[in-house]
Amino acid sequence: MSSSPERPTATRPDASVVIAIDGPAGSGKSTLSRALAERLGIDRLDTGAMYRSVAWAVLRDGVDPVDQEAVAALARNLDIMVGGTVVADGIDITEAIRGPEVSATVSAVAANPDVRAVMVTRQRSWVDARGGGVVEGRDIGSVVLPDADLKLYLTASPEVRAARRSEEGAEALARRDRLDSTRAVSPLEVPPGARVVDTGALEVEAIVEQVLAWL
Ligand code: DC
Repeated sequence: MSSSPERPTATRPDASVVIAIDGPAGSGKSTLSRALAERLGIDRLDTGAMYRSVAWAVLRDGVDPVDQEAVAALARNLDIMVGGTVVADGIDITEAIRGPEVSATVSAVAANPDVRAVMVTRQRSWVDARGGGVVEGRDIGSVVLPDADLKLYLTASPEVRAARRSEEGAEALARRDRLDSTRAVSPLEVPPGARVVDTGALEVEAIVEQVLAWL
C-alpha cells in the first residue's frame, strides 16, 4: 500500500498515526508494539497492563473478582499509570502484575463490562491527548479504536505462544485465552479490516518493515 500526502510515510515519525494491535497471549504484541513505537517515535500503551493493575488491586483488597459492582468501583477509583513502569495508587507494580496470581485473576476482571467501560474511556483519552500512538490489547481494533489507521491481529501457534509464556504455563495460558475469547463483552476477535500477522514465522525487524510498508 503506498502512502498518500495526508498519511504518515513509513520513515517519518508522525505522532498522529494510530496503530491498533490485538492478539492472544504470547502472540508478540508487546515486542512488536515496542519496536513500532520506537521506530515511529510515538508512544505505546499496553492496555493489558491496565487490566492487570485492576486485578492486582482486587487481590490487594481481597475483593471477590466476580463481584461486578465492587470490582467496578475499585477500577473507577484506581489511579493507574502505564509507561516504562506500571504504577497503581503510587505503588510500582511493574513486576507484581506479571505474577501467576494476577495472571490467573485478570480474565475474570476483564470480563466485567463496567471495568471495561472505565478502561476504554481512559485508553481513548490517552490517544486523544497524544493525537496517536501504538495501542495493544484484545479489543483495540474492534472496540477502543475502530478507526485506527492500521489494525493488526497477531497470531502464533499454541506451542510458540506457550514457549514465550513459559512462566505462566501452557495450561493456564490456554485457559486465559479461552476466557478472553468467549466472554460476552468485547471478546478477543479479529477486528474488521485487520491485517493478520503470524509472528512465529518472521523476525521482529522483518515484521516491522512489513507493517511500516502498510502505513
Ligand atoms: O496483554 P496481557 O496478556 O497482559 O493482558 C492481560 C489480560 O487483560 C488478558 O488476559 C485479557 C485482558 N485484556 C483485555 O481484556 N482487553 C485488553 N484490551 C487488554 C487485555
